[in-house]
Amino acid sequence: MPTVIFHKNGSAYEGEVRPNTNLVVRAGIKQFPFPHLSYGCGMGKCAKCTCKVLAGAENLGTPNWKEKKQLGDKLDQGYRLACQLWIQHDVELVQEDPPGA
Ligand code: FES
Repeated sequence: MPTVIFHKNGSAYEGEVRPNTNLVVRAGIKQFPFPHLSYGCGMGKCAKCTCKVLAGAENLGTPNWKEKKQLGDKLDQGYRLACQLWIQHDVELVQEDPPGA
């Protein structure tokens, strides 16, 4: 079972998820990383679920066109859209607050 470490507001939360898990779907049914993960549309359109990958990026699928459209150069800095990720292996993510939040 993949272990997900999720950092938010200076705290780290850890949980095990089933292989091929989508974290936004889980948060939507109030499972880890609920209530810490911020998200919106769940469809790759709003970028509210943007996270930076701290570890395990090599195990994630290649970014799809929605991520390329929303994130642009930020993809190269390690950012991904959580709603577009299907977790297969251990991963560590941080979600930063938007500027001014
Ligand atoms: S929740 Fe809107 S882009 Fe991921």
